[in-house]
Amino acid sequence: MMSQLPNQITAPAWVQLFNWIVDPLGFLDKYTQKYSDVFTMQLAGLGLSVVIANPKAIQEIFNQDAKFDMGRGNELAEPLLGRNSLLLLDGDRHRRERKLLMPPFHGERLHTYATQICKVADQVASQWQTGQPFIVRTSMQNISLEIILQVVFGLSEGERYQQLKVLLTEWLDMTDSPSRSSMLFLKFLQKDWGAWTPWGRMQQRQRQIHDLLQAEIDERRTKGDEKRSDVLSLMMAVRDETGQAMSDEELRDELLTILFAGHETTATTLSWAFYQIHQQPEVREKLLKELESLDAHASPMSMAQLPYLNAICQETLRMYPVIPVLFPRISKVPVKVADYSFDAETTLWISPYLVHYREDVYPNAHHFEPERFLDRQYSPAEYFPFGGGSRRCLGYALAQLEMKLVLATILSKYQLALADDKPVKLQRRGFTLAPTGGVRMVLTEKP
Ligand code: HEM
Repeated sequence: MMSQLPNQITAPAWVQLFNWIVDPLGFLDKYTQKYSDVFTMQLAGLGLSVVIANPKAIQEIFNQDAKFDMGRGNELAEPLLGRNSLLLLDGDRHRRERKLLMPPFHGERLHTYATQICKVADQVASQWQTGQPFIVRTSMQNISLEIILQVVFGLSEGERYQQLKVLLTEWLDMTDSPSRSSMLFLKFLQKDWGAWTPWGRMQQRQRQIHDLLQAEIDERRTKGDEKRSDVLSLMMAVRDETGQAMSDEELRDELLTILFAGHETTATTLSWAFYQIHQQPEVREKLLKELESLDAHASPMSMAQLPYLNAICQETLRMYPVIPVLFPRISKVPVKVADYSFDAETTLWISPYLVHYREDVYPNAHHFEPERFLDRQYSPAEYFPFGGGSRRCLGYALAQLEMKLVLATILSKYQLALADDKPVKLQRRGFTLAPTGGVRMVLTEKP
């Protein structure tokens, strides 16, 4: 007999789906107040899922990773990223692909990107005009797209670079509001009736992006250039245990996956950091003091080691997790998690948002307090902005380096202020959560 799932929400499944698309955090808050830290929701078309915000249960799920599939639960992303995307793979294929993709994003390799990151941040900031409000999120998106194009795709000039930049921005902006995001969740909207329908336009842009990426891959294969250090070149050179290289289709899908997973997420988190730093004068002053303590010729890597800057980034990632729930964990066999027993084929949704706002772990959780990350360490089940287990974010080290270097480069040179004094709220942007309006700021003094 199937075991009963805990605390099932009784509202109709389509009402739950609507609320989930429009206001995912309001939805999570409402039911965690009613049912505490484990409850079951039902989204029309997506079935039953158990939401988990209990650190003990989460630790046990991370420890039993091999009993869950996580790729097949991401099928909503397939039309965007392609079937070879790391996000959609499970089992041996996922292990193989991750092993091939890991090295460029970790260890010493990262240091080689640091100078490029600082340069890009400075270039984008130098275009701000004194007294003219601008949207921080747009600037941060320009920075993170440029970094991905340079560091990952190895492109910084030429016609293909220009075309890709425009197309990729348009492609990602197509889901920039809750209503425009609904096409990702509602299969009946996913019909290609030509360029005048939203889905048709999205598909058309995607085909153009594919063609440009394929042309780049073809050119690299024929020209060859052993001195290149970008991620695409490393991906093309790598071989698995059987001597097999990645196919063109795999390369293309992984490039889009890295862009999709790494671009919006980093830009959004950086926008929140700018917002919080400028909302609280004492945080900004403390950070500026720390930045001033650095030698004028300090290396980018020494900036990245500053403790208060690090604490600001950690606290931003705590308060503003970019996705409300991690990738769905679908049990392959019956599992026991804390006090709960789940049958095979149960979908578990771990929520970083709910855990990161637990008052028992983070007192005064709605307040931005970087000091909490100087005073104590949190366990991987209490703090996991990058997820956990075998599925932990591939780009977590690059993302944190990028955040620190962009903040340090800009704040040590440019004087900024918030342009509005209204509090900024979160809203859905595709699969992610972003600040409504993107945070308006103004440059108060030209350097
Ligand atoms: C602040 C920035 C970022 C945040 C908050 C973030 C967060 C996450 C989270 C929560 C997951 C799901 C993990 C899970 O379910 O356990 C994930 C997966 C992933 N992220 Fe990130 N991410 C960020 C930046 C990046 C960057 C820069 C890249 C690219 C280099 C990237 C590439 C990926 C990939 C490829 C996966 C899928 C991993 C897999 O399925 O094995 N992310 N990320």
